Amino acid sequence: MAQRETWATRTGFILAAVGSAVGLGNIWRFPFVTGEGGGAAFLVVYLLFIALVGFPAILAEFVVGRRTERNPVGALLEYGGNAWKYVGGIFIVTGFVILSYYSVIAGWFIRYAGEGLRGSYADHIASYDGDPELMFDTLAVGLDAFILHTVFMVLTVGIVALGIRKGIELAVKVMVPAIIVLLLGLAVWAYTLPGAGGGYEYYLSPDFGVIADNWVELLPAAAGQAFFTLSLGMGVMITYASYLGKDRNLAKDGGMIIGFDTGIAFLTGLVVFPIMWAGDLTDPGEGGPGEIFVALTQAFAEISGGQFLGLLFFATVAIAALSSAISLLEVVTSYAIDEYGVERWKAAAGMGGAIYLLGVPVTYDLVFLDLLDLFADAILLVFGALMLSILVGWIAPQMAVDELEKGIGELGSIGTLWIWAIRVPIIIVLVVSLYLGIVDY
Ligand code: PFF
Ligand code: NA
Repeated sequence: MAQRETWATRTGFILAAVGSAVGLGNIWRFPFVTGEGGGAAFLVVYLLFIALVGFPAILAEFVVGRRTERNPVGALLEYGGNAWKYVGGIFIVTGFVILSYYSVIAGWFIRYAGEGLRGSYADHIASYDGDPELMFDTLAVGLDAFILHTVFMVLTVGIVALGIRKGIELAVKVMVPAIIVLLLGLAVWAYTLPGAGGGYEYYLSPDFGVIADNWVELLPAAAGQAFFTLSLGMGVMITYASYLGKDRNLAKDGGMIIGFDTGIAFLTGLVVFPIMWAGDLTDPGEGGPGEIFVALTQAFAEISGGQFLGLLFFATVAIAALSSAISLLEVVTSYAIDEYGVERWKAAAGMGGAIYLLGVPVTYDLVFLDLLDLFADAILLVFGALMLSILVGWIAPQMAVDELEKGIGELGSIGTLWIWAIRVPIIIVLVVSLYLGIVDY
């Protein structure tokens, strides 16, 4: 068999992991989870979770991937023994399911960017009886949604088929800087809009009373968002770390990746909330997958330059979604390559095709989106992350510490602290989230 691929450069790996982390989770989900959680108060809890839960958890995935140099199924089998390959299988299934509907949502962003090319958002809304919700309900399903889901999956397959260095690494080197530059530009623009101030206040001055009153809902929501946004529990970080050299400092790389993801989520809030307030919309967090589309098209219809602003914003999100989608397709593709010796392009096309088919019903009726999202995100993802924490924290912690020490050196009590963070707090958070997820389902 051909030699297994590796990243060409350290930057390549970091950009790929950042590209995976930064996606609809930051831009579509984060502002609205923050809105539902009451704004700034949620932000504080979320940042704590990123540091205390996200950081130890991303390192757990990194060590398992780099130690074994395998896809999640092979990695868990080698790391934990035969029975653990089924847990690896859960990661593959999670990635498979999440990507199926993620692609449909990404298609909506392409569509809304296209609307900005064709005319002003005010005119578009007017042609749907002046109702942006009707506009979303019309565009979200049907032939156009189906076609854009197709386009998005073809792009994803194309990049993954080209391989680690020529496909993924090259693509993210263009996409990640583009996302950052575009969002920075949008944030500056948003700042100049009249009425933006209320958005900053809502987003940035926490009301700690909200945390005290709602912590039962706030905590699991913040934990779930922390895992989703860092691409944890879906095997991405295991897979990406499996292409890494032994000399790399995983803690430093993990810190950088988390810094970028958090920074970009935060930056997105600085775009979305001022734009909403400038468009006179002051009640985020009503819920539903269409929310950001409804709210922002309304805002883009109101403010000057809204057509161009909207086009840029929706296009930026579509790019971010693409750099995430390739990471999930890489998880399932690496599985087919490692375990069955399939050629890369065949693995990418075959797996991508099957994922695509699973997503098709979503373009017909959004009920399927809720079903798939709840099942994959609230149950599968959390369960996989929980099992991995048990494996790394309780069953084979020494192996994890040894692996982390490569490229760093003797960790001593810091290593112990890391393992204990996985052993108790993370496991508690995941068990509680899983319980709530199952009850919800
Ligand atoms: N970290 C990603 C995000 O925040 O959007 C999560 C993700 C979802 C990655 C779906 C990849 C993907 F296809
Ligand atoms: Na993210």
